[in-house]
Amino acid sequence: MAIRYDGRVALVTGSGRGLGRSHARFLASRGALVVVNDMGSEVDGTGRSDEVADQVVEDIRAAGGEAVADYHDVATTDGAIGAVETTMDAYDKIDIVVNNAGILRDRTLAKLAPDDFDAVVAGHLSSSAYVTHAAWPYLRDRSYGRVVFTTSAAGLYGNFGQANYAAAKMALVGLMNTLALEGEPRNVRVNTIAPVAATRMTEPLMTPEVLSAMVAEYVTPVVGWFCSEDCSANGVVVEAGAGHFALVEVMEGAGYTFTDPGSVSPDDIAAHWGEIADMSAARPFADANSAVGKVLAAHQSAKAD
Ligand SMILES: NC(=O)c1ccc[n+]([C@@H]2O[C@H](COP(=O)([O-])OP(=O)(O)OC[C@H]3O[C@@H](n4cnc5c(N)ncnc54)[C@H](O)[C@@H]3O)[C@@H](O)[C@H]2O)c1
Repeated sequence: MAIRYDGRVALVTGSGRGLGRSHARFLASRGALVVVNDMGSEVDGTGRSDEVADQVVEDIRAAGGEAVADYHDVATTDGAIGAVETTMDAYDKIDIVVNNAGILRDRTLAKLAPDDFDAVVAGHLSSSAYVTHAAWPYLRDRSYGRVVFTTSAAGLYGNFGQANYAAAKMALVGLMNTLALEGEPRNVRVNTIAPVAATRMTEPLMTPEVLSAMVAEYVTPVVGWFCSEDCSANGVVVEAGAGHFALVEVMEGAGYTFTDPGSVSPDDIAAHWGEIADMSAARPFADANSAVGKVLAAHQSAKAD
């Protein structure tokens, strides 16, 4: 049986173009009632156009699907609440939130104005937090929710000239890690994609060959899986692009433990750097307590030796 979303209500932010449009159309094509949120801005977040969301709603309806438009700027608290209100007014519930909206103001840190830092953090991190926060009571009350965040390789690994964007994108992983724990008891699952796709954001950087491989629709299947009722994943990041899908994890090495913590000098760190930086036995942790538990266990076992 193909995965479907019949009767499920999905709010997809920034879905007037690019990746969000692909996610919205796909969810609608499999039965979801979709709220197409888009403020219709330029890549840098300036300017507004209702037509961008309207066009996607028109496309979805023309294909036999069900959708309404929402034009709020979700990077503001009022806008995020407004987008969730549009959803509740239209369909009286919310099951799926795909946090996709975002902007770029690329500069090296040396040239980055604080306003450009704040706008990009608001566009990605605050928008995702505000929209999810506004939707959260409705998801919890009905003990059902599928939430997706959108991070980036720039955040996971760094990218020259994208300090603001990288900071916001990696922060989303931290937000997801905690919401996955807080949502789990109420069947609210929170996962993240790290997409690679040819959109207006990336087209200027891509060769024609790369462009043809990086179709936005090629990313959407993993969003479809994260939004499905049967999705078993919770709190994971998946890189997705050009038909390639891979789990990304934060890992910690086995490390090195000094017997007498009070006597450790920077020289000792230098002497043991090979063991401290050895990732051959690296592993992820389910939550912060587990990671802290590893530190304590290592301390106790070093003392006992
Ligand atoms: N394209 C890629 O390769 C790539 C890679 C990594 C991450 N991403 C992320 O994927 C998401 C979608 O990017 P895209 O490439 O499709 O970009 P895009 O510019 O084509 O589409 C983004 C849409 O979001 C809307 N938008 C922006 N801020 C908004 C806000 N505050 N409120 C409402 N609407 C808003 C814009 O009007 C635009 O239509 C972004 O979060 C981006 O950072 C994209």
